[in-house]
Amino acid sequence: MSSNNLITLHRWLLSDTHKNMENKLEMANLFSGIALACKITNNAIKRAGFESNFGLAGITNVHSEDVKKLDVIANDAFKMALKSTREVFCMVSEEEDSIIPVSQSQAGNYVVAFDPLDGSSNLDCNVSVGSIFSIWSKVSKDGHNYSNEDVLRKGRDMTAAGYALYGSATMLVLTFGQGVYGFTLDNHIGEFVLTHVEMRIRTKGSIYSINEGNSIYWDKGTQEYVKAIKSGADGRAPYSSRYIGSMVSDIHRTLLYGGIFMYPGDTKSPNGKLRYLYEVAPLSFIMEQAAGKATNGSSPCLDMVPKSIHERVPVFMGSPACIEELLTYQKKF
Ligand code: AHG
Ligand code: MN
Ligand code: MN
Ligand code: MN
Repeated sequence: MSSNNLITLHRWLLSDTHKNMENKLEMANLFSGIALACKITNNAIKRAGFESNFGLAGITNVHSEDVKKLDVIANDAFKMALKSTREVFCMVSEEEDSIIPVSQSQAGNYVVAFDPLDGSSNLDCNVSVGSIFSIWSKVSKDGHNYSNEDVLRKGRDMTAAGYALYGSATMLVLTFGQGVYGFTLDNHIGEFVLTHVEMRIRTKGSIYSINEGNSIYWDKGTQEYVKAIKSGADGRAPYSSRYIGSMVSDIHRTLLYGGIFMYPGDTKSPNGKLRYLYEVAPLSFIMEQAAGKATNGSSPCLDMVPKSIHERVPVFMGSPACIEELLTYQKKF
């Protein structure tokens, strides 16, 4: 990308590329808040060693997880940056028990659900982590009194979704339902610059990504599928295994290299671990927009409507051929 046609996130959002994107100005403003929150989070992660921000915050969240100091910093950054855009009606965060209100004077038209810091267990060992967000238009006609129908939303009704990956490079990957675009943070100018246009996953892949430590608890369909892709049977080379433990990192690699990511339900946790509104739904939207598939083991993740804001769902997403094969095992066993 030569410097004479540097396309920053803002320029891209306001450009005439998206002829039929209504509410362009609102989206550009909302994404200025998201980009700010990601830059603040990225900076906090990079400086954690100097500022003693590794380790635990000394609280547990609604998921009974030990909250990291950087979880709190990222959560505060997202709440502040989103509220100040005046485009947000209410919010849901992994780190907050209930819906986050926005004052009447600041309330806008969009509902944002976010995982401020995904993969927190990897922070202290300097392995890539991310942030994830999903955006819906509000449903309530009221000025600022939200209701459950504003936040318990079907993934397929999303206006936009995306993730930040704080990795070897810091990226923002997003979709408005018209393809997937990736922006890389240029630290020299402090801008996210367009580097990946219309990202698409390959139809087939031979990398599988799952926490095998849970294998004795998996359902039979998952057990038999993983056994098959490792067996080398029918002359097919065994798949490679890659599991980072940050969903954003595992999904970003799956998007770029193909294959399948799995977090199934099991006998310990029948609905798996990953939360619908701010992990499964936004990453399923990205995956489908990149010509991939995302299923809960029987139907597309995007067709689900959660009954609670922190509802967990089983998830299998990646190359269409891998998902199709997985589903045959789920049906058979
Ligand atoms: P978070 O750090 O936001 O709580 O999410 C962690 C999630 C997800 O990023 C990852 O795929 C999964 O936890 C890993 O879980 P296991 O350690 O059970 O494999
Ligand atoms: Mn967590
Ligand atoms: Mn997460
Ligand atoms: Mn998190």
